[in-house]
Amino acid sequence: MRVPFIDLERAHRPIKQELLAAFERTIDHGGYCLGPDVTAFEENFAREQGVSRCVGLGSGTEALHLIACAMGIGPGDEVIVPSFTFIASAWFAQYVGARIVFADIDPVSYTLDPNGIESLITEKTKAIVVTHLFGQSADMDPIVELARSRGIKVVEDAAQSHLALYNGRLVGEIGDAGAFSFYPTKNLGGLGEGGCATSRDGALLDKIEILRAHGSKERYLNHFVGYNNRMEGLQAAALNVKLPSLREKTERRQKIARRYTAGIQHSDIVLPSRVDWGDSVYHMFTIQHPERDRLRAYMAENEIGSDVVYPYPLHLQPCFTDLGYKEGDFPVAEKLASNCVSLPIIPELTDEEVDYVIKTLNAFS
Ligand SMILES: Cc1ncc(COP(=O)(O)O)c(C=O)c1O
Repeated sequence: MRVPFIDLERAHRPIKQELLAAFERTIDHGGYCLGPDVTAFEENFAREQGVSRCVGLGSGTEALHLIACAMGIGPGDEVIVPSFTFIASAWFAQYVGARIVFADIDPVSYTLDPNGIESLITEKTKAIVVTHLFGQSADMDPIVELARSRGIKVVEDAAQSHLALYNGRLVGEIGDAGAFSFYPTKNLGGLGEGGCATSRDGALLDKIEILRAHGSKERYLNHFVGYNNRMEGLQAAALNVKLPSLREKTERRQKIARRYTAGIQHSDIVLPSRVDWGDSVYHMFTIQHPERDRLRAYMAENEIGSDVVYPYPLHLQPCFTDLGYKEGDFPVAEKLASNCVSLPIIPELTDEEVDYVIKTLNAFS
């Protein structure tokens, strides 16, 4: 049995006609860069994600970048970033010339460890980027409390965490701003690039709206140095078709995760732990095994897809050599990077496929 790690064709096959009809409407009305589909999506997503407002952008990376610009973060400032996340969390600081200060993750949630942050704060610290990694919300309360007491902004990188909860609250505006990605493989993905910024702070989002369109509010009058970062109409059209099933798809991911958790019984496999502040939305189901490459080869022999997300902690990335970090600086991040393997968890998997993965993993020796 072949079990794919990602299968976008399988995801889109049942809604292909709906997508084509939506694209046809967009082609006909001509709103290709922003436009009525984007406006509708911004409203729809804000409602579904439980945030005050959302600004549609070209990608999640650009959402992080424009949030940093709109917050006025720049050279001379420092930003605390978890060492185990996708590189774009660090681009938040790098793109605006601020200094990245890496921090370790918590071994249970794999998200920024609130205990390690205080000692990293200096008078230059302007923001903390918190990634809700693999669909698991980070432990926000202690981080937000500490940040507020020091006048530091908290930015939620929620690229992998649509509909994730933290103590009953949806992520995205628990901190000062949130960045979501709609890259095709995300829990809510378009048919190309897309992202958005969220916040309770209307003035911050007003600024991001100006920054996404060349720093211009009035045509050809440029208030700030801006960017070309508008969400495209065709992407918004696709996302409007897919958004109504996001909740159901999320529940399916959670059901698959429960099936894996109940079924995988292997003394060398560490399963993801549950935390008491909120169930993951399982963008990834990431296990650990001390011989992960051998395990992946065995899975591949048995036609089961897998991925290593992520093989390198950010403090050891060649692009950050100048920051002077070394092996051993963040042991939790380093261990996870060397042991982690993500299993297939797309909502379109059948129970038979999930059981086949379980049976195969349990027979690994
Ligand atoms: C944690 C995280 N942050 C940021 C991004 C960037 O999003 P995008 O690919 O839409 O630029 C991604 C996705 O790739 C991500 O997983």
